[in-house]
Amino acid sequence: MNLIKSILIFILACLNVSAVIAVKVPFDVYPPNDGTKSYYVKGENGVKIFVDEKGDPTNTTILFSSAFLHSRTTWDPQWVDPELNKKFHLVRYDYRGLGRSDKPDNENSYSYDINGEDLSAVIRKISSKKKKKIVLVGWSLGIPITLTFMKNHPDMKIDGFIAVCGPVNDTIINLVDPPLSNIIKKSYDKVFLGIDEFMKLFPFKPFSDELHAYLLGNAFTSTSGYRKTVTKPFNLDEFYSSLTIPTLHIIGEKDALLIMEHSLYFASLKKNSKTIIYKNIGHSPSWENTKEFNKDMMKYVSNI
Ligand SMILES: *[C@@H]1O[C@H](CO)[C@@H](O)[C@H](O)[C@H]1NC(C)=O
Ligand SMILES: *[C@@H]1O[C@H](CO)[C@@H](O)[C@H](O)[C@H]1NC(C)=O
Repeated sequence: MNLIKSILIFILACLNVSAVIAVKVPFDVYPPNDGTKSYYVKGENGVKIFVDEKGDPTNTTILFSSAFLHSRTTWDPQWVDPELNKKFHLVRYDYRGLGRSDKPDNENSYSYDINGEDLSAVIRKISSKKKKKIVLVGWSLGIPITLTFMKNHPDMKIDGFIAVCGPVNDTIINLVDPPLSNIIKKSYDKVFLGIDEFMKLFPFKPFSDELHAYLLGNAFTSTSGYRKTVTKPFNLDEFYSSLTIPTLHIIGEKDALLIMEHSLYFASLKKNSKTIIYKNIGHSPSWENTKEFNKDMMKYVSNI
Protein backbone atom coordinates (compact mmCIF):
# COMPACT_ATOMS: atom_id res chain seq x y z
CA MET A 1 0.00 0.00 0.00
CA ASN A 2 2.76 2.39 1.00
CA LEU A 3 4.72 1.44 -2.07
CA ILE A 4 1.76 2.16 -4.37
CA LYS A 5 1.25 5.47 -2.61
CA SER A 6 4.91 6.35 -3.05
CA ILE A 7 4.79 5.44 -6.72
CA LEU A 8 1.67 7.55 -7.19
CA ILE A 9 3.29 10.49 -5.46
CA PHE A 10 6.36 10.00 -7.62
CA ILE A 11 4.27 9.94 -10.83
CA LEU A 12 2.36 13.03 -9.73
CA ALA A 13 5.62 14.78 -8.91
CA CYS A 14 6.92 13.94 -12.39
CA LEU A 15 3.75 15.26 -14.01
CA ASN A 16 4.05 18.40 -11.99
CA VAL A 17 7.69 18.86 -12.94
CA SER A 18 6.97 18.41 -16.64
CA ALA A 19 4.16 20.97 -16.39
CA VAL A 20 6.57 23.45 -14.81
CA ILE A 21 9.16 22.81 -17.52
CA ALA A 22 6.54 23.30 -20.24
CA VAL A 23 5.63 26.66 -18.75
CA LYS A 24 9.26 27.70 -18.59
CA VAL A 25 9.93 27.19 -22.30
CA PRO A 26 10.21 30.79 -23.45
CA PHE A 27 8.99 30.18 -26.98
CA ASP A 28 5.45 29.98 -28.29
CA VAL A 29 4.81 27.05 -30.60
CA TYR A 30 2.39 29.17 -32.66
CA PRO A 31 2.17 32.96 -32.85
CA PRO A 32 0.73 34.04 -29.49
CA ASN A 33 -2.61 35.75 -29.35
CA ASP A 34 -1.21 38.64 -27.31
CA GLY A 35 -2.63 41.65 -29.12
CA THR A 36 0.40 42.12 -31.38
CA LYS A 37 -0.51 43.69 -34.70
CA SER A 38 1.85 42.78 -37.53
CA TYR A 39 2.04 44.37 -40.96
CA TYR A 40 4.42 45.61 -43.62
CA VAL A 41 5.39 49.20 -44.32
CA LYS A 42 7.06 50.27 -47.54
CA GLY A 43 10.66 51.21 -46.86
CA GLU A 44 13.22 52.76 -49.20
CA ASN A 45 12.68 51.66 -52.86
CA GLY A 46 9.45 49.87 -51.92
CA VAL A 47 11.22 47.17 -49.90
CA LYS A 48 8.70 45.74 -47.43
CA ILE A 49 9.63 46.06 -43.77
CA PHE A 50 7.90 43.78 -41.27
CA VAL A 51 6.58 45.58 -38.18
CA ASP A 52 5.01 44.43 -34.89
CA GLU A 53 3.17 46.82 -32.62
CA LYS A 54 1.41 46.26 -29.34
CA GLY A 55 -0.43 48.41 -26.80
CA ASP A 56 -2.40 51.63 -26.93
CA PRO A 57 -1.05 53.68 -29.88
CA THR A 58 -1.94 56.93 -28.09
CA ASN A 59 0.57 56.08 -25.30
CA THR A 60 4.25 56.95 -25.60
CA THR A 61 5.90 54.68 -28.16
CA ILE A 62 9.09 52.76 -27.45
CA LEU A 63 10.54 51.67 -30.80
CA PHE A 64 13.28 49.03 -30.77
CA SER A 65 16.08 48.67 -33.36
CA SER A 66 17.97 45.39 -32.98
CA ALA A 67 21.64 44.50 -32.90
CA PHE A 68 23.47 43.19 -35.98
CA LEU A 69 22.06 39.79 -37.06
CA HIS A 70 19.21 39.99 -34.55
CA SER A 71 15.62 39.94 -35.77
CA ARG A 72 12.79 41.86 -34.10
CA THR A 73 11.96 38.86 -31.89
CA THR A 74 15.14 39.45 -29.92
CA TRP A 75 13.01 41.98 -28.02
CA ASP A 76 10.75 39.21 -26.65
CA PRO A 77 11.83 39.81 -23.02
CA GLN A 78 10.50 43.36 -23.36
CA TRP A 79 7.55 42.42 -25.55
CA VAL A 80 6.03 40.16 -22.88
CA ASP A 81 6.74 42.40 -19.87
CA PRO A 82 3.32 43.24 -18.37
CA GLU A 83 4.48 46.60 -16.95
CA LEU A 84 5.92 47.80 -20.25
CA ASN A 85 2.75 46.62 -21.99
CA LYS A 86 0.50 48.47 -19.60
CA LYS A 87 2.24 51.83 -19.92
CA PHE A 88 3.63 51.99 -23.42
CA HIS A 89 2.98 51.41 -27.07
CA LEU A 90 5.72 48.98 -28.19
CA VAL A 91 7.03 48.75 -31.77
CA ARG A 92 9.70 46.50 -33.26
CA TYR A 93 10.64 45.66 -36.84
CA ASP A 94 12.93 43.50 -38.96
CA TYR A 95 15.73 45.13 -40.90
CA ARG A 96 15.66 44.58 -44.68
CA GLY A 97 17.51 41.37 -45.50
CA LEU A 98 16.59 39.71 -42.19
CA GLY A 99 13.68 37.95 -40.51
CA ARG A 100 10.35 38.59 -42.24
CA SER A 101 11.30 41.75 -44.11
CA ASP A 102 12.04 41.70 -47.85
CA LYS A 103 15.46 40.46 -48.82
CA PRO A 104 16.87 42.32 -51.81
CA ASP A 105 19.71 40.47 -53.60
CA ASN A 106 21.57 43.56 -54.64
CA GLU A 107 24.29 44.64 -52.23
CA ASN A 108 23.60 48.27 -53.09
CA SER A 109 20.25 47.88 -51.34
CA TYR A 110 22.01 47.89 -47.98
CA SER A 111 23.54 50.81 -46.10
CA TYR A 112 23.07 52.72 -42.86
CA ASP A 113 21.34 55.49 -44.82
CA ILE A 114 18.90 53.01 -46.36
CA ASN A 115 18.27 51.40 -42.94
CA GLY A 116 17.59 54.91 -41.65
CA GLU A 117 15.02 55.45 -44.42
CA ASP A 118 13.31 52.16 -43.52
CA LEU A 119 13.15 53.29 -39.90
CA SER A 120 11.64 56.61 -41.00
CA ALA A 121 8.91 54.68 -42.85
CA VAL A 122 8.07 52.76 -39.65
CA ILE A 123 7.95 56.00 -37.64
CA ARG A 124 5.80 57.75 -40.21
CA LYS A 125 3.29 54.92 -39.98
CA ILE A 126 3.03 55.01 -36.17
CA SER A 127 3.20 58.78 -35.70
CA SER A 128 0.36 59.43 -38.12
CA LYS A 129 -1.99 58.03 -35.49
CA LYS A 130 -1.81 60.76 -32.90
CA LYS A 131 0.59 63.35 -31.60
CA LYS A 132 2.42 61.67 -28.77
CA LYS A 133 5.95 60.92 -27.63
CA ILE A 134 8.28 58.54 -29.43
CA VAL A 135 11.41 57.13 -27.80
CA LEU A 136 13.90 55.15 -29.88
CA VAL A 137 15.98 52.31 -28.48
CA GLY A 138 19.02 51.20 -30.47
CA TRP A 139 21.03 48.17 -29.47
CA SER A 140 24.58 47.78 -30.82
CA LEU A 141 24.51 48.45 -34.59
CA GLY A 142 20.92 49.58 -34.05
CA ILE A 143 22.61 52.73 -32.72
CA PRO A 144 24.25 53.95 -35.96
CA ILE A 145 21.00 53.07 -37.76
CA THR A 146 18.90 55.12 -35.32
CA LEU A 147 21.34 58.05 -35.27
CA THR A 148 21.58 58.03 -39.08
CA PHE A 149 17.79 58.24 -39.26
CA MET A 150 17.73 61.20 -36.82
CA LYS A 151 20.55 62.94 -38.70
CA ASN A 152 18.77 62.59 -42.06
CA HIS A 153 15.32 63.51 -40.68
CA PRO A 154 15.61 66.52 -38.38
CA ASP A 155 12.00 67.24 -39.40
CA MET A 156 10.65 64.15 -37.62
CA LYS A 157 10.12 64.71 -33.91
CA ILE A 158 11.74 62.17 -31.59
CA ASP A 159 11.51 62.67 -27.83
CA GLY A 160 14.28 60.47 -26.46
CA PHE A 161 16.95 57.93 -27.32
CA ILE A 162 18.33 54.93 -25.42
CA ALA A 163 21.70 53.64 -26.66
CA VAL A 164 22.28 50.07 -25.53
CA CYS A 165 25.84 48.71 -25.74
CA GLY A 166 26.81 50.21 -29.06
CA PRO A 167 29.20 52.28 -31.10
CA VAL A 168 29.08 55.88 -32.28
CA ASN A 169 31.84 55.39 -34.86
CA ASP A 170 33.30 52.44 -36.73
CA THR A 171 36.76 52.37 -35.15
CA ILE A 172 35.83 49.46 -32.87
CA ILE A 173 34.35 47.20 -35.58
CA ASN A 174 37.68 45.65 -36.60
CA LEU A 175 38.33 44.69 -33.00
CA VAL A 176 35.63 42.03 -33.42
CA ASP A 177 37.70 39.97 -35.83
CA PRO A 178 37.57 37.04 -35.89
CA PRO A 179 34.62 36.26 -36.23
CA LEU A 180 33.46 39.23 -38.32
CA SER A 181 35.54 38.44 -41.42
CA ASN A 182 33.99 34.96 -41.57
CA ILE A 183 30.45 36.35 -41.40
CA ILE A 184 30.92 38.20 -44.70
CA LYS A 185 32.57 35.30 -46.58
CA LYS A 186 30.93 33.46 -49.50
CA SER A 187 31.35 29.98 -48.02
CA TYR A 188 28.37 28.93 -45.90
CA ASP A 189 30.66 26.95 -43.63
CA LYS A 190 32.62 30.07 -42.80
CA VAL A 191 29.49 32.19 -42.41
CA PHE A 192 27.86 29.69 -40.04
CA LEU A 193 31.06 29.36 -38.05
CA GLY A 194 31.46 33.14 -37.91
CA ILE A 195 27.88 33.69 -36.74
CA ASP A 196 28.15 30.93 -34.13
CA GLU A 197 31.33 32.48 -32.71
CA PHE A 198 29.95 36.01 -32.93
CA MET A 199 26.79 35.14 -30.99
CA LYS A 200 28.87 33.56 -28.22
CA LEU A 201 30.48 36.96 -27.64
CA PHE A 202 27.16 38.59 -26.72
CA PRO A 203 26.57 37.42 -23.13
CA PHE A 204 29.10 37.60 -20.29
CA LYS A 205 27.84 34.35 -18.78
CA PRO A 206 27.14 31.89 -21.64
CA PHE A 207 23.49 31.61 -22.68
CA SER A 208 21.63 28.29 -22.63
CA ASP A 209 22.01 26.21 -25.80
CA GLU A 210 18.32 26.86 -26.44
CA LEU A 211 18.64 30.65 -26.45
CA HIS A 212 21.88 30.44 -28.43
CA ALA A 213 20.14 28.29 -31.07
CA TYR A 214 17.20 30.72 -31.20
CA LEU A 215 19.53 33.66 -31.83
CA LEU A 216 21.46 31.67 -34.46
CA GLY A 217 18.21 30.77 -36.21
CA ASN A 218 17.31 34.44 -36.55
CA ALA A 219 20.81 35.36 -37.74
CA PHE A 220 20.73 32.66 -40.42
CA THR A 221 17.74 34.35 -42.10
CA SER A 222 20.09 37.17 -43.17
CA THR A 223 21.21 37.87 -46.73
CA SER A 224 24.88 38.39 -47.61
CA GLY A 225 24.09 42.00 -48.58
CA TYR A 226 22.73 42.62 -45.10
CA ARG A 227 25.74 40.98 -43.45
CA LYS A 228 28.12 43.19 -45.42
CA THR A 229 26.65 46.40 -43.97
CA VAL A 230 28.89 45.66 -40.99
CA THR A 231 31.90 46.70 -43.10
CA LYS A 232 30.44 50.11 -44.03
CA PRO A 233 31.95 53.21 -42.46
CA PHE A 234 30.05 55.46 -40.06
CA ASN A 235 30.98 58.33 -37.80
CA LEU A 236 28.18 59.92 -35.82
CA ASP A 237 30.31 61.57 -33.15
CA GLU A 238 29.64 65.10 -34.26
CA PHE A 239 25.95 64.53 -34.89
CA TYR A 240 25.49 62.89 -31.51
CA SER A 241 27.24 65.80 -29.74
CA SER A 242 24.75 68.17 -31.35
CA LEU A 243 21.64 66.16 -30.40
CA THR A 244 19.44 67.94 -27.88
CA ILE A 245 16.86 65.28 -26.92
CA PRO A 246 17.31 63.33 -23.65
CA THR A 247 19.53 60.27 -24.06
CA LEU A 248 20.37 57.29 -21.89
CA HIS A 249 23.41 55.03 -22.28
CA ILE A 250 23.20 51.46 -21.06
CA ILE A 251 26.61 49.81 -20.89
CA GLY A 252 27.57 46.24 -19.96
CA GLU A 253 30.62 46.24 -17.71
CA LYS A 254 31.87 42.96 -19.24
CA ASP A 255 30.91 43.69 -22.85
CA ALA A 256 33.29 41.69 -25.10
CA LEU A 257 32.12 43.36 -28.32
CA LEU A 258 32.15 47.01 -27.25
CA ILE A 259 35.20 47.98 -25.26
CA MET A 260 34.43 50.12 -22.23
CA GLU A 261 36.74 52.88 -23.46
CA HIS A 262 34.57 53.42 -26.54
CA SER A 263 31.28 53.24 -24.61
CA LEU A 264 32.49 55.89 -22.17
CA TYR A 265 33.80 58.04 -25.03
CA PHE A 266 30.37 57.80 -26.73
CA ALA A 267 28.56 58.76 -23.53
CA SER A 268 30.94 61.69 -22.94
CA LEU A 269 30.11 63.29 -26.30
CA LYS A 270 26.79 64.65 -25.10
CA LYS A 271 26.53 66.76 -21.97
CA ASN A 272 23.05 65.96 -20.73
CA SER A 273 23.14 62.21 -21.30
CA LYS A 274 22.66 59.72 -18.50
CA THR A 275 24.69 56.52 -18.16
CA ILE A 276 23.94 53.24 -16.42
CA ILE A 277 26.61 50.55 -16.21
CA TYR A 278 25.47 47.00 -15.44
CA LYS A 279 27.94 44.95 -13.41
CA ASN A 280 28.87 41.48 -14.71
CA ILE A 281 26.79 41.95 -17.84
CA GLY A 282 28.02 41.61 -21.41
CA HIS A 283 26.63 42.90 -24.69
CA SER A 284 23.02 41.73 -24.14
CA PRO A 285 21.52 43.44 -21.07
CA SER A 286 17.98 43.02 -22.44
CA TRP A 287 18.46 39.24 -22.06
CA GLU A 288 21.13 39.05 -19.37
CA ASN A 289 19.37 41.27 -16.85
CA THR A 290 15.87 41.68 -18.22
CA LYS A 291 14.42 42.82 -14.90
CA GLU A 292 16.78 45.76 -14.37
CA PHE A 293 16.87 46.63 -18.04
CA ASN A 294 13.08 46.85 -18.34
CA LYS A 295 12.82 48.72 -15.06
CA ASP A 296 15.49 51.29 -15.98
CA MET A 297 14.03 51.77 -19.44
CA MET A 298 10.52 52.23 -18.05
CA LYS A 299 11.71 54.74 -15.46
CA TYR A 300 13.68 56.73 -18.00
CA VAL A 301 10.95 56.85 -20.63
CA SER A 302 8.29 57.73 -18.03
CA ASN A 303 10.28 60.84 -17.07
CA ILE A 304 10.82 62.15 -20.59
C1 LIG B 1 -1.69 53.78 -21.72
O1 LIG B 1 -2.93 53.38 -22.24
C2 LIG B 1 -3.78 52.72 -21.33
C3 LIG B 1 -4.97 52.16 -22.08
O2 LIG B 1 -5.56 53.15 -22.91
C4 LIG B 1 -4.10 53.64 -20.19
O3 LIG B 1 -4.94 53.01 -19.27
C5 LIG B 1 -2.81 54.08 -19.51
O4 LIG B 1 -3.07 55.00 -18.51
C6 LIG B 1 -1.84 54.67 -20.50
N1 LIG B 1 -0.57 54.86 -19.85
C7 LIG B 1 0.08 56.00 -19.86
C8 LIG B 1 1.37 56.04 -19.12
O5 LIG B 1 -0.30 56.98 -20.46
C1 LIG C 1 35.93 57.02 -32.52
O1 LIG C 1 35.92 56.54 -31.19
C2 LIG C 1 37.15 56.50 -30.52
C3 LIG C 1 36.93 55.90 -29.13
O2 LIG C 1 36.79 54.52 -29.22
C4 LIG C 1 37.73 57.89 -30.42
O3 LIG C 1 38.97 57.87 -29.76
C5 LIG C 1 37.90 58.45 -31.82
O4 LIG C 1 38.32 59.79 -31.75
C6 LIG C 1 36.60 58.37 -32.62
N1 LIG C 1 36.94 58.60 -34.01
C7 LIG C 1 36.44 59.57 -34.73
C8 LIG C 1 36.92 59.65 -36.12
O5 LIG C 1 35.64 60.35 -34.30
